[in-house]
Amino acid sequence: MAQKNIRNFCIIAHIDHGKSTLADRILECTQAVDERQMEAQLLDNMELERERGITIKARAVTLHYTAKDGQDYEFNLIDTPGHVDFNYEVSRSLAACEGAVLVVDASQGVEAQTLANTYLALEHDLELVPILNKIDLPSAEPDRVAHEVEDVIGLPCMDAPRVSAKMGVGIQDVLERVITDIPAPKGDADAPLKALIFDAVYDPYKGVIVYLRVFDGRLSVGEPVKLMQTGAQFTPVEVGHMGATALAPCGTLEAGEVGYFTASIKTLEDTRVGDTITGVSAPTAEALPGYRKVTPMVFCGIYPADGADYPDLKDALEKLRLNDASLSFDAETSVALGFGFRCGFLGLLHLEIIIERLEREFDLDLITTAPSVEYRITLTDGAVKLIDNPTNYPDPAQIAKAEEPFVDAHIYTPTDYVGSLMELCQNRRGIMRDMKYMDATRVDLHYELPLGEIVYDFFDAIKSRSRGYASYDYEMKGFVESKLVKLDILLNGDMVDALSMIVHADTAYAKGRRLAEKLKENIPRQMFEIPIQAAIGGKIIARETVKAMRKDVLAKCYGGDITRKKKLLEKQKEGKKKMRQLGTVQVPSEAFTAVLKLD
Ligand code: GTP
Repeated sequence: MAQKNIRNFCIIAHIDHGKSTLADRILECTQAVDERQMEAQLLDNMELERERGITIKARAVTLHYTAKDGQDYEFNLIDTPGHVDFNYEVSRSLAACEGAVLVVDASQGVEAQTLANTYLALEHDLELVPILNKIDLPSAEPDRVAHEVEDVIGLPCMDAPRVSAKMGVGIQDVLERVITDIPAPKGDADAPLKALIFDAVYDPYKGVIVYLRVFDGRLSVGEPVKLMQTGAQFTPVEVGHMGATALAPCGTLEAGEVGYFTASIKTLEDTRVGDTITGVSAPTAEALPGYRKVTPMVFCGIYPADGADYPDLKDALEKLRLNDASLSFDAETSVALGFGFRCGFLGLLHLEIIIERLEREFDLDLITTAPSVEYRITLTDGAVKLIDNPTNYPDPAQIAKAEEPFVDAHIYTPTDYVGSLMELCQNRRGIMRDMKYMDATRVDLHYELPLGEIVYDFFDAIKSRSRGYASYDYEMKGFVESKLVKLDILLNGDMVDALSMIVHADTAYAKGRRLAEKLKENIPRQMFEIPIQAAIGGKIIARETVKAMRKDVLAKCYGGDITRKKKLLEKQKEGKKKMRQLGTVQVPSEAFTAVLKLD
């Protein structure tokens, strides 16, 4: 296809503004899939993604469209993930495009991620095509929202297509706008090969499928290529376009095109998103800018509820990593929980998705420890250590300086909830930087917050305090010196390493108390009294007690039938299985998750 008839674009939006629904309609409208194959939200093809209604990994698809001008166009639609955890993937997907369709929900208006994604798109010099979605809703206010887009983003929006992705209204307008407003790619097909990897997935039959955008030159079957960052070399065995339902091999991709190649690549390790592909025989001099190795930000321990499942857990994690190079894990042992893994994630959503997949797809029963961030500790001898596991926290006497990661966060909220959200940020040790009115009714609260305070339930807290109206977005700011202490939990006098956490000294006392109370609620009575203590550096700061009880399951079985007695004893054993023996105390798996929510 001639470059002038190619359009490479993505759809960006705030979560739930209708990006995937619009993508589906575009697929329908270009007849990329017939009705029978049309499965709602085809681009989100993982079962979990569909269920949660979120896009986890970027996908791309090539479509053909005959425009009103009578010409045939090749559209490469790149779907981008919609959550802060996956911002780097979004940025690489954007780098593969010339333009972006910006979907704004006409009943909601501009939200945190609308802005965040717009800025990202502008950073990549993308042409933006705003559209107003959900005009079928009675609460839609397209005129007001169009003004808001103009005021807040500075993008002309009064004549933007007004669409109902759900009802299929206005979709053709969107496609025509893509042609008129988004520029065709410009690249030199005769220059040395230069292509960007924007995604890679593992396929058990073909090996890794590398999704790429060719900027210059040609990528052909049989002509060896190398990846400039990892240095890996491959000879493509299949090169082609991504159809909506199947790959469409075509042998060669030229400058301006989006497609894939396979080369029996065994691991995703070698095919990092953001890397530049070039030819082995005539390499390009300069790699494409913007490569970054993604690093995990949130860590937690994952243990099998039943120790015998350890090999299965290891297997499952390895399988998941095949398809997710940003998941990291190392074997670790806990005195309390036995053998398990310390896993690193891009963020909490990523963590939740992985745990859910482990439990659902691999049928594992898991115990996860409280998520932690990475702290930077300078020891008195000058050594600097990164600590992501409270168990490894050094002795306070050896610490010269402790630092914790901070983020720059923007919360966008209707004015009514400002007070309550400011209180929330204050409680999480936030430092207010700015407060701006976006229009008469909406405010942008700018806070610096410790990452450790927002990892678990900050998003939920914001939503509940604002009845769902506020949204937020953050980026890493760096390490800031902080008064940190390690909070330990003792059950019946024994320290439980899996329950330790690193907390700020000022909140340690309150946290210790809450933790002890929560544990008391979650640990059932046992044959003896169980003291639950919270301690800092050996000093007890809180105590609760679970009273003793004796439960005789046979008590109500006064009759002589032995099979009935046996049944009851079996049942009791079943119940016990879900418990974890920590020293002398039995703790249900739920206790570990319950203690995560301390508010
Ligand atoms: P993420 O993938 O999580 O970023 O969400 P998304 O932006 O892709 O949103 P999605 O397409 O999943 O739509 C979110 C919800 O809005 C779904 O329940 C859709 O059915 C609904 N929705 C999308 N478009 C429209 C529309 O035009 N009108 C109405 N009434 N609902 C819509």
